Amino acid sequence: MRVGILGSGLMGGKLGTIWARAGHEVVFSYARSEQKLKRLAREAQGNATAGTPSDAARGADALLLAVHWSRVDDVLKQAGDVSGKTIVSCSLPMTVDDSDLAIAHTSSGAEALAKKVPKARVVSAFGTAPSEVFFGVFEARRKKVRPSLVYCGDDAKSKKIAAELIRDVGFDPVDAGPLRIARYTEPFTLLIAQLAYEGDEGPELAYRFESDSVGRDSLARC
Ligand SMILES: NC(=O)c1ccc[n+]([C@@H]2O[C@H](COP(=O)([O-])OP(=O)(O)OC[C@H]3O[C@@H](n4cnc5c(N)ncnc54)[C@H](OP(=O)(O)O)[C@@H]3O)[C@@H](O)[C@H]2O)c1
Repeated sequence: MRVGILGSGLMGGKLGTIWARAGHEVVFSYARSEQKLKRLAREAQGNATAGTPSDAARGADALLLAVHWSRVDDVLKQAGDVSGKTIVSCSLPMTVDDSDLAIAHTSSGAEALAKKVPKARVVSAFGTAPSEVFFGVFEARRKKVRPSLVYCGDDAKSKKIAAELIRDVGFDPVDAGPLRIARYTEPFTLLIAQLAYEGDEGPELAYRFESDSVGRDSLARC
């Protein structure tokens, strides 16, 4: 797949690197320095380049949206026409000072994003894992037991693409349902952040839903 990274920070930089190493074509975009994007592309050691958000969007099978909520409008404007594109978003709708969710309960960041780009297909994924865990999960991807990663969205084809990208990182994708379920996954992310950054075990934290006791197939896995 050709994957465009919109926001090449902690999340976008790491996920883009992993996808390049997993064999995808990756375009890193949107950082404050072009040097950083070029360094990421070089160090990814795969088929990766640095470009503008519009380069990242052009011909992309999937776009990862990984910017602070306050930068979403700007990066989307720079990306240009995203009609028909799959946008996998890990961006949380945090207030400017990062103290709380700016959207919650009756809507979610993912739904607000889908309203901004009604012709794109938004999938919410990756927000429920701290960036610090990604390389470890990728290195352990051949182990039998994988950590879970929930995702949700309204478009079946885009959810399939997101599930493949989740699997390529080394997680077991768990389909949580339609995009409105991001109302529950986004606050769950704050719990993960609390455990990762305020807990005793450090930020290399992942989770796994076990279904053995109630039957192996009771979780909706892709
Ligand atoms: N980090 C996590 O573990 C985590 C976990 C769950 C969800 N999330 C969510 O994922 C999203 C991304 O988080 P992150 O931690 O990856 O953020 P981040 O490290 O700050 O990355 C954001 C990217 O946007 C770029 N950027 C910011 N302002 C810009 C501007 N004015 N012009 C051009 N580029 C600009 C940054 O550039 P520079 O590279 O130059 O700084 C960086 O590459 C957020 O919505 C966050 O809530 C993060």
